[in-house]
Amino acid sequence: MNTDQIVRTFTDYFRERGHEIVTGGTLLPSPADPVLFTTSGMHPLTPYLEGRPHPQGRRLISLQRCLRTTDLDEVADRTHLTVFEMLGSWSLGDYGHEQSLRWGYELLRDGFGIPPGRMYVTVFGGDDEVGPDTESLVTWRELGLPVEPTRDENWWSHDPVGLCGPDSEIFVWTGDPGTPPQDTPTTDLRWVEVWNHVSMRYRRHDDGSLQPLQRPSIDTGMGLERLVTVLQGHNSVYDSDLFEPWRRLLPPLWNLDETSTRLVCDHLRSAIVVIGDGVRPSNTGRGYVLRRLVRRVLTTLWRSDPSRTLSGLPDELLGHTLDHFRQPLGTGPVREVLVDEERRFGRLLERGRRVLGRPEFNGPLSEEDYHYLHDTHGLPRELVTTLRTP
Ligand code: SER
Repeated sequence: MNTDQIVRTFTDYFRERGHEIVTGGTLLPSPADPVLFTTSGMHPLTPYLEGRPHPQGRRLISLQRCLRTTDLDEVADRTHLTVFEMLGSWSLGDYGHEQSLRWGYELLRDGFGIPPGRMYVTVFGGDDEVGPDTESLVTWRELGLPVEPTRDENWWSHDPVGLCGPDSEIFVWTGDPGTPPQDTPTTDLRWVEVWNHVSMRYRRHDDGSLQPLQRPSIDTGMGLERLVTVLQGHNSVYDSDLFEPWRRLLPPLWNLDETSTRLVCDHLRSAIVVIGDGVRPSNTGRGYVLRRLVRRVLTTLWRSDPSRTLSGLPDELLGHTLDHFRQPLGTGPVREVLVDEERRFGRLLERGRRVLGRPEFNGPLSEEDYHYLHDTHGLPRELVTTLRTP
């Protein structure tokens, strides 16, 4: 199955079971939200999980683009992406956890063809405050899947206060198909978590107390890129069809090692999507995240060849990304933003080299030096460190 078929299989399955698709989710949360970017599928639905009626009803699904910078240093490993998408399903006070788990299992087995022998699930085993999630335990046993109870790993909360509850995670075996699955999800990394089903039943207050919600909900989330990678039998998300044009078009353009290729693919793709959602580079907020993404790409590219330029980026890569994320902006304006940022960064580096070449900056730099370089010459600490690294 290619990515489009995987998404369609998910949406068709839930539409047949009365779910409406919530569309139009961009990376930018509503103006009242203090968070810079949408970080999960459920993020835009938080007010409705809190109890507000949703105009589309009580059974919802979405494919939501998300951005996380917390994992920036892990990008370039096999699975972490800065911009990614989440498939999600919600029951806003409608059906319960058991139904959600049964549908989840059926979709993975019949819709996506994952053999039950390659699945393992985890459930909340209980702690000092809340008893074990026996409903999930019984459901999974009835369905015949092996279950591992845990404590912290199966308690979902986004923040220290607010909505929370026990969750149940479905793992798929990604080891050698010839080897039967071994151990459990918490003891063998070849068990990869694909789908989290949260029973949103409590609210945590400032004083630490837990209050049961009057109207509990179900919130599930499944990372699309990870699902695609697992279903297509790849080891790395960069080998999936999502990155096919990048894999084909980047190496002839820039000959980079594997880690750098992944970083460049991830950050450029993310930058294109962020630009597509209307953000422009700046020194604060969202614009600064975009600036950092583009500048990290340029730093990587220029490390071995300062003549590399984003102006030569194939149009197909820009178009493929904008199409995939259903963004109407043309490739021309996106390229302009990237090339303009490249020019600015080039000028900043030139100035930086000149300033850092002065004798007073020969030795180790003090905090005062860093402040001076930043405030007077616009040179961030990260850049100064890069420029001084031989
Ligand atoms: N809240 C859960 C998650 O973020 C499911 O959407 O994984």
